Amino acid sequence: MKRLLALTTAIAIALPFTPAAADSPDSPGSQGAGDPYFPLQGNGGYDARHYDLTLDYDPGTRVLKGTATISARSTQALSRFNLDLSKTLTVASVTVDGTAARFTHEGDELAVSPASAIAAGKPFTVAVAYAGKPTHIVDPDGSKEGWIRTPDGVFNANEPEGAKSWYPGNHHLTDKAGYRFTVTVPSDRVAVANGSLVSQNTAMGRTTYVWVAKEPMASYLTTVSIGDFTLTDTTVGGLRTIVAVDPEHAAAAKNLAQRHGPVLAYFSGLFGPYPFSTTGAIVDNAPGVGYALESQTRPIYPKVPDEVLLSHELAHQWFGDAVTPERWKDIWLNEGFATYAEWMWADKRGATPLSTAFSRAYARTADDRFWQIPPADPGNAKQLFKDAVYVRGAMTLHVLRKEVGDKAFFTILRTWVADHKYGNASTADFVALSKKISGKPLDALFDAWLVKPGKPAL
Ligand code: TRP
Ligand code: ZN
Repeated sequence: MKRLLALTTAIAIALPFTPAAADSPDSPGSQGAGDPYFPLQGNGGYDARHYDLTLDYDPGTRVLKGTATISARSTQALSRFNLDLSKTLTVASVTVDGTAARFTHEGDELAVSPASAIAAGKPFTVAVAYAGKPTHIVDPDGSKEGWIRTPDGVFNANEPEGAKSWYPGNHHLTDKAGYRFTVTVPSDRVAVANGSLVSQNTAMGRTTYVWVAKEPMASYLTTVSIGDFTLTDTTVGGLRTIVAVDPEHAAAAKNLAQRHGPVLAYFSGLFGPYPFSTTGAIVDNAPGVGYALESQTRPIYPKVPDEVLLSHELAHQWFGDAVTPERWKDIWLNEGFATYAEWMWADKRGATPLSTAFSRAYARTADDRFWQIPPADPGNAKQLFKDAVYVRGAMTLHVLRKEVGDKAFFTILRTWVADHKYGNASTADFVALSKKISGKPLDALFDAWLVKPGKPAL
């Protein structure tokens, strides 16, 4: 599902392909979704509705064999359209509606020319068969993401660009879709993905796991993690809770499924009903990965999370996963909100009062570089996950709450989720909603806290 970005920000990119023959109208979809931080991420001209990924992985040889069958709908006439896929993977064939299509694969752009052009507004199915040894991606900020090999399998976290390292797709955050993952691994390994485990079958030393994620999901929130996991599937607070734990973390993970209950109950009270049909966690050993990620319904952690990290990733299920930013520069809508939720949970359980969390953060002196990054636009892809995005973002929400009062504040948060669940929204949308619900101007507040560099006065 997709909400198109404003045309004014579309970026023109030179097309490295041969022009179509003079007798066929050339109407290629754009190579990128128009996000200034990642100009080639995502693609134009179609809306992906559903991904059916069939993957076979051997941790011994590190070879991944995949078929991605993507159901989509054109939003313009398409003589050609692109998918994002790392060049480390080799494409064997592409079909569109069952007919072989021509393709080129340059950079991380797979360009598909169907045998005959797709008319505007038509459903179509593209199937890509590919194979190779996936490698992780190094982010603009230097961290690893994507298909990250571990001693026993794969730690798979895909924000902001990792998805292309293991499957072809429309990998911008505005194109959400449903997913089915059919993953075959050696029988001494487990494959864990988002959503519900619907079947698990072993034959001749290999096990096939089928996972279905039915609620719309942005591709940076997908995960297929593989390892020597212990899988538990329980009901906690009425919600199916599937937890996968690497044996090295087994002792510390003892109550992990149960610990989800109180956090989710508290957040549901504040933000509205939990937005998905399952929850859970993946805890994996991942050398060189220093962060956790809020994969939809199944956050992935490099160690057993404490209450701070658990509450952060679970808050993202509302803020980030159910409601996803329209552009990467709006990332404070994820991180500022999850950090504020973390503070509220610490207050609730009696660890740190909210006012203390705020004053500690505010105590940074005015000359601290921290204050130079405004959360509403951290500036570039390298600065996406800077402290200011998290902490100054959270402070913005606290200041907003003090200004409008608790009643209006929580109405704003609940309305935000209800209005944009399974879709995307921007900082401008949040500012407009806050003004509408509170009836206050708020421009000066948001300007000082979100837009202008420098330490805001209280
Ligand atoms: N979104 C993650 C969180 O805060 C953090 C994250 C994802 C991250 N990718 C990253 C942090 C890369 C640093 C670098 O839950
Ligand atoms: Zn976060």
